[in-house]
Amino acid sequence: MKATVTIHRDFTISPIDDRIYSSFLEHLGRAIYTGIYEPGHPTADADGFRGDVAELVRRLDIPYVRYPGGNFVSAYNWEDGVGPREERPTRLDLAWRTRDGNQVGVNEFVDWCRTAGTKPMLAVNLGSRGLDAARNFLEYCNHPGGSYWSDLRRKHGWAEPHGVKLWCLGNEMDGPWQVGHKTADEYGRLANETAKAMRLFDRSLELVVCGSSHAGMPTFPDWEATVLDHTYDAIDHVSLHMYFGNEEHDTLNYLAKAEKLDRYIMTVAGVIDYVKAKKRSKKTVTISFDEWNVWYHSREADKAVLEGDDWPDAPHLLEDIYNFEDVLQVGGVLNTFIRRADRVKIACLAQLVNVIAPIMTETGGPAWRQTIYYPFLYASLYGRGTSLRAIVDGPTYDCASEADVPYLDVAAVRSTAGDGLTLFAVNRHPGEALDLSVALGGFPAARLVEHIRMTHPDLGAVNTAANPDNVVPHKAEGTMVADGALTSRLPPLSYNVIRLAV
Ligand code: AHR
Repeated sequence: MKATVTIHRDFTISPIDDRIYSSFLEHLGRAIYTGIYEPGHPTADADGFRGDVAELVRRLDIPYVRYPGGNFVSAYNWEDGVGPREERPTRLDLAWRTRDGNQVGVNEFVDWCRTAGTKPMLAVNLGSRGLDAARNFLEYCNHPGGSYWSDLRRKHGWAEPHGVKLWCLGNEMDGPWQVGHKTADEYGRLANETAKAMRLFDRSLELVVCGSSHAGMPTFPDWEATVLDHTYDAIDHVSLHMYFGNEEHDTLNYLAKAEKLDRYIMTVAGVIDYVKAKKRSKKTVTISFDEWNVWYHSREADKAVLEGDDWPDAPHLLEDIYNFEDVLQVGGVLNTFIRRADRVKIACLAQLVNVIAPIMTETGGPAWRQTIYYPFLYASLYGRGTSLRAIVDGPTYDCASEADVPYLDVAAVRSTAGDGLTLFAVNRHPGEALDLSVALGGFPAARLVEHIRMTHPDLGAVNTAANPDNVVPHKAEGTMVADGALTSRLPPLSYNVIRLAV
């Protein structure tokens, strides 16, 4: 099987916003408690945050981490998480049927972000609460002092304001499962008034309004049209979410779901353009894809907690154990965001630790990298700069959900400094290697730096605490660059990062 790819230095799609390599931590299961925070753990710092986890997060170089939810935020009182820890209330979390002792709140989270080399993207509760709680939360976080809420923060021990600039106006408000679910008109009006109030405090904030929870929602895409009609002038980004699963145990169909993601992005881009035209606006709202990942392995196991009446503390929930097949899927999703870098300016891998996450922990024990840690790592490290158009001429396939899906999924990135070019390539074919030939237009002096590859004889192979390096990247041989062209042979079902100096 052969595929040719043509790229040219001048055929650019868009600068890539680094924030597409962001992530998400929710008060859910063991994401916070025994995930990032575990006082008494051998690696814990003075505040109780695990050093081993912070180190694995730091290596990913994540620009922003969204917090505190997710569904959790829609019934969350941010005030419960501030002040002396021993006085904080234990609450029932209606979203995940668990208890939360509020030992981590916004102040500790902001501190953890600094430790982990990232920044907070905060969400306000527009489910059970509204404008007033949102503006108080903002003042508590960002005002230097001399007002009720900012002085309270200072009294709690944080003299400096947190300076949080990126805020989500609620979470998945189109979903009937959401506490305080609203119609598009109800939510659009509330989000607009909340955004206006928040901007009265600080004009420079970046605000994210809720789009659809997924492309299969019955209200999609009218939801976006109505919500943007209400909020277009007051907000910057519209939020989308999508999770992927291979419930059908059909690899080709699974990997083709990235095509659906692409259509979802382009449909919402069309709705944005429609509202922009209707409003005669000069501004282009962009997409914050602030929840995405593979999520299906743990769904059955979670029923015990989600349908039970125990209200446990930090139970095992949404602990998907990722396999090698998921590496290919995550690689394909990241490629889609790179190719749509003109419309998608933020994307958050959901989530970061233990809950549908690239990093797993054992309570009192080790932390390790799941299989999907690696494609996310490489995209974050080498996928920054400018997205280049990659024209593919190669074989395609039809499957249950899509037609004409290319076997080769490829994205090309010229580095920010202009001296590097990276190709991220997935060969989706289950049985055939792909002879790849790439015409490198405008890069006459290109030379190979390295070819990193992930393959595995077993699609179901996973990493565990006992065997953390079962699925890891390797250096690949045989890739050549000569006379302005790159040639390589990509094994069946392989994920490839080909780095060139240009
Ligand atoms: O990430 C898990 C959940 O998925 C989030 O809480 C919610 O926003 C989405 O439905």
